[in-house]
Amino acid sequence: MANTHQKPHAILIPYPLQGHVIPFVNLAIKLASKGFTITFINTQSVHHQISKAQTDSADDIFAGARNSALDIRYSTVSDGLPLEFDRSLNHDEFMESILHVFSDYVEELIAKIVESAVPPVTCLIADTFYVWPTTIGKKFGLINVSFWTEPALVFTLYYHMELLRNNGHFASNDNRKDTISYIPGVWAIEPTDLMSYLQATDIATVVHRIIFKAFEEAKAADIILCNTVQELEPETISALQVKKPFYAIGPIFPTGFTKSSVATNLWSESDCTQWLNTKPHGSVLYISFGSYAHASKNDIVEIAKGLLLSKVNFIWVLRPDIVSSDDGDPLPEGFEEEIGETAMIVPWCCQIEVLSHPAIGGFVTHCGWNSILESIWCRVPMLCFPLLTDQFTNRRLVVDDWRVGINLKDGKTVNADEVSEKIDRLMGGKSGEEFRKEINEVRKVLENALMADGSSEKNLDQFVEDLMVTIR
Ligand code: UDX
Repeated sequence: MANTHQKPHAILIPYPLQGHVIPFVNLAIKLASKGFTITFINTQSVHHQISKAQTDSADDIFAGARNSALDIRYSTVSDGLPLEFDRSLNHDEFMESILHVFSDYVEELIAKIVESAVPPVTCLIADTFYVWPTTIGKKFGLINVSFWTEPALVFTLYYHMELLRNNGHFASNDNRKDTISYIPGVWAIEPTDLMSYLQATDIATVVHRIIFKAFEEAKAADIILCNTVQELEPETISALQVKKPFYAIGPIFPTGFTKSSVATNLWSESDCTQWLNTKPHGSVLYISFGSYAHASKNDIVEIAKGLLLSKVNFIWVLRPDIVSSDDGDPLPEGFEEEIGETAMIVPWCCQIEVLSHPAIGGFVTHCGWNSILESIWCRVPMLCFPLLTDQFTNRRLVVDDWRVGINLKDGKTVNADEVSEKIDRLMGGKSGEEFRKEINEVRKVLENALMADGSSEKNLDQFVEDLMVTIR
């Protein structure tokens, strides 16, 4: 397939959601800076949304990052639905298209790229959640690299779905409620800490069909890359490495952790910096529930009341679709007048910029994996409010394993008094100090991993070396 001194050429395809596009873009830049030629493929819909969110049009999202040393090409592909189709409102139809139609378009595009690419394409780096990478990659003789953008713990739980099923913890009408202690590399996990899809009793959904097929494909992949750090999840990673070449290469951040010069935001950013500049060090709570999970109107109301009770300064990212029902404004009446200058409510912001501002002292997060890594990097302790998918499992790492955050609620529902009390505990006094001390330690682990001789940097180099051996 390849000549002896071939430059590696990778096709990268992220899942068409914000929290996947960001780490894929950062991986693309990292690999390009290590000498790869990259062909990056976004869905036309993601591309269209990114372009709409920019003040300057973005025909090629990498235009701002490209210099003579980086060879990054950019292409788009249809996800099978018209551009104007509302993918957030009609999530199941969107997923059906990703499951059944998308692969035909991808295959057609990859065929075109492979036919004429110089240097020739060597590997396909696709999101683990896709249902076709290994099958398509093999057709074109490409090395299959599956990029997992979530923690290794979540990967291994999906990887062992059959084991969970055989033990009655998953996919039965009455799933077992006792501690799970038989997953290799996971000493114990409570069923309530499993990903929401593994806690479900109805497993005939489109998302389940995607997960089942995606993990069949991932098991057949040649290599797994994971946006985590070896030292953060050592046992889980070691157990996975027995099964597959598995490289922990995270956290994949833009260089220097400044705002990336590549357009990745699917929504326009509101500026928060000017307002933050007027607030004292560590006094502001940042609240965001990520890019697609919905909260209930009741939760939003209780959180809002808790914020007022606590009297904390805050920035709250409230996406227009934050509550899934058509209930109108989810905030309590008169809330925005009441907060006055003590708070900002925005539909979207540059989270990296906000979290790294010295005025930020705490983060109420839905526990999306990117948000967790970013929060640790910025030494901001977390109040955890998981809503969907891996967020329940990620919460366990933050609160129980690394002790850099607390649960926003202890019972099933959110309550204003509890919210206010937890905010005080996270940001104030002696307990706040403790969290900041702990998070400093975890931040050091991330920092060390990214040093030239750190584990993630070495793992990435090892990945490149192993890939080169395979293609020679
Ligand atoms: C989901 C999963 O829960 C997550 O674990 C997975 O890795 C991706 O998909 P998502 O809701 O997208 O998560 O959250 P998260 O992983 O935290 O990613 C959101 C990204 O958007 C972060 O990089 C964050 O910095 C960015 N963001 C969020 C903004 O730039 N501005 C905002 O206002 C909110």
